[in-house]
Amino acid sequence: MDNLASLRDEVLSAAAAAATAAELDEVRVAALGKKGRLTGLMKELGGLDPETRKARGQALNAVKDEVAAALDARKTELEDAALNARLAQEVADVTLPVRPEVSGMIHPISQTMDEVIAIFAQMGFTVAEGPEIEDDFHNFTALNIPPEHPARQMHDTFYLPEQADGSRFVLRTHTSPVQIRTMQNQTPPIRIVAPGRTYRCDSDMTHTPMFHQIEGLVIDKATHFGHLKGCLVEFVQTFFEVSEVPVRFRPSFFPFTEPSAEVDIGCSRKGGELTIGAGDGWLEILGCGMVHPNVLAACGLDPDEYQGFAFGMGIERIAMLKYGIPDLRTFFDADLRWLKHYGFVPLDLPTVTGGLSR
Ligand code: DAH
Repeated sequence: MDNLASLRDEVLSAAAAAATAAELDEVRVAALGKKGRLTGLMKELGGLDPETRKARGQALNAVKDEVAAALDARKTELEDAALNARLAQEVADVTLPVRPEVSGMIHPISQTMDEVIAIFAQMGFTVAEGPEIEDDFHNFTALNIPPEHPARQMHDTFYLPEQADGSRFVLRTHTSPVQIRTMQNQTPPIRIVAPGRTYRCDSDMTHTPMFHQIEGLVIDKATHFGHLKGCLVEFVQTFFEVSEVPVRFRPSFFPFTEPSAEVDIGCSRKGGELTIGAGDGWLEILGCGMVHPNVLAACGLDPDEYQGFAFGMGIERIAMLKYGIPDLRTFFDADLRWLKHYGFVPLDLPTVTGGLSR
């Protein structure tokens, strides 16, 4: 066997024996690198006479190609083996039971939303959704808040850049636009709740630029204020899981409802500690009212035929009250210690019959 054939065999068996990508690379450099043995033989071609050079050149090139192909094939083999080993090692047994101490926790916002939805679902409401980037019509005008209405200022709206036609989209300042979208797209009877993110340009101890609300809407031909009251009293009693929470409806104003009310719950603040239930204090928790005829008309519903009620509440606020969370901003700090303390065990979904917050 001449030296080329034995070099070929040597390199091929070294490539086959390489156990790691690094070892294989050493074999490649020793054969085909700048100072490699095959490269060296190529360099000697210049000193040969033309006839010999041609034959030797062809033979060398053939060996070079064969060695390069073998190195490539071995490289793929090693990479596949490494990937398979990693996959085998990282295998996750999804049938293992949840270990609360190592798994994630459900954020109190998600938990509270699930609880509220569970209560209203039990009463026959379905969940509706709408976009977080809204147009002026759905966020304001259709809700009986015309352009010059002072309520627009109270909303601290985030505006998006002006469109070609001069209009500007907004980050929705409340979940009420979902009422409008629902009435535009469904024929009554309507019974929906719409949970989601809302935005206002405001940040201090009790306000964050993004927060969550849940909206409720009932529309048919006969629903009256008595139904609104019964529905919300039932909700409050179930949500707070305290028997006999006093509930008070206090006259108020919202452009999109007439009459309007705010709902307060009874509490006591004895010794600096807030307790929901009996006591001589009151806490406001939500706004509500009978849907304004202008709002029904803006959605193409005849106010002489249809009527109903709406309500809206802040998720963070009711979560803070129920779970004794003192500072609003901590909801958004993504602090794991906080989440371990205030979070909820996954897969333990709240239900009215099985318990909301066991
Ligand atoms: N959209 C109101 C707000 O963000 C809350 C609200 C009050 C919603 C009364 C309603 C309602 O549907 O009837 O402050």
